Amino acid sequence: MPHTLDAEARDLLFLKARTNTAWLDQPVSDDTLRELYNLMKWGPTSANTTPARILFLRTKEAKERLKPALAPGNVGKTMAAPVTAIVGYDSKFYEHVPRLFPQMPAMSEMFASNPQLSETTAFRNGSLQGGYFIIAARAVGLDCGPMSGFDNAKVDAEFFGGQSWKSNFLCNLGHGDPAKLFPRNPRFDFDEVCKLL
Ligand SMILES: Cc1cc2nc3c(=O)[nH]c(=O)nc-3n(C[C@H](O)[C@H](O)[C@H](O)COP(=O)(O)O)c2cc1C
Repeated sequence: MPHTLDAEARDLLFLKARTNTAWLDQPVSDDTLRELYNLMKWGPTSANTTPARILFLRTKEAKERLKPALAPGNVGKTMAAPVTAIVGYDSKFYEHVPRLFPQMPAMSEMFASNPQLSETTAFRNGSLQGGYFIIAARAVGLDCGPMSGFDNAKVDAEFFGGQSWKSNFLCNLGHGDPAKLFPRNPRFDFDEVCKLL
């Protein structure tokens, strides 16, 4: 068993993986979405709270429900994508603590009685899971187009009305068209943003 990923895997997950906005005419199966979830779910979260919740929109009808909430610049790419995921989180994630973290079931009440702590925990860990989501999507051969340019309140009202689930970001999924990529922008070098103490 190798203990590190080889160059091909590093390319797939990071070095050659790009944010995509144009899509090839290739479908994404429900099995692939299940495969994606069954990888991402193993990424760590605090007290194993796993607050992320995901809606996979893969029909025209479902996409039409999303359309009015999208920033104008995100409409075309989203309507064209084979799948758009609403990556959200459950603000009442703590109800599941006794099952997911049986070592300390009392943490459920600790979160329930402290709305600020539970919101911070849900958003932090739900966002971490959103990162795992993107890497897992790449691992199963999909390209991603994450987006925050949309009206969260509209999405929540349309898809989660009356529930404790909230939207965090959107992520288009499919097979990106490599001919339509813009040149890649730079990243900081290690010494600019990391300190070794
Ligand atoms: C949370 C998040 C929100 C983003 N929102 C948008 C968006 O609303 N519209 C858009 O076109 N791109 C959006 N992007 C795409 C970023 O601009 C892109 O991922 C970044 O420039 C890196 O591009 P690269 O992966 O090709 O290097 C978003 C990315 C992330 C991670």
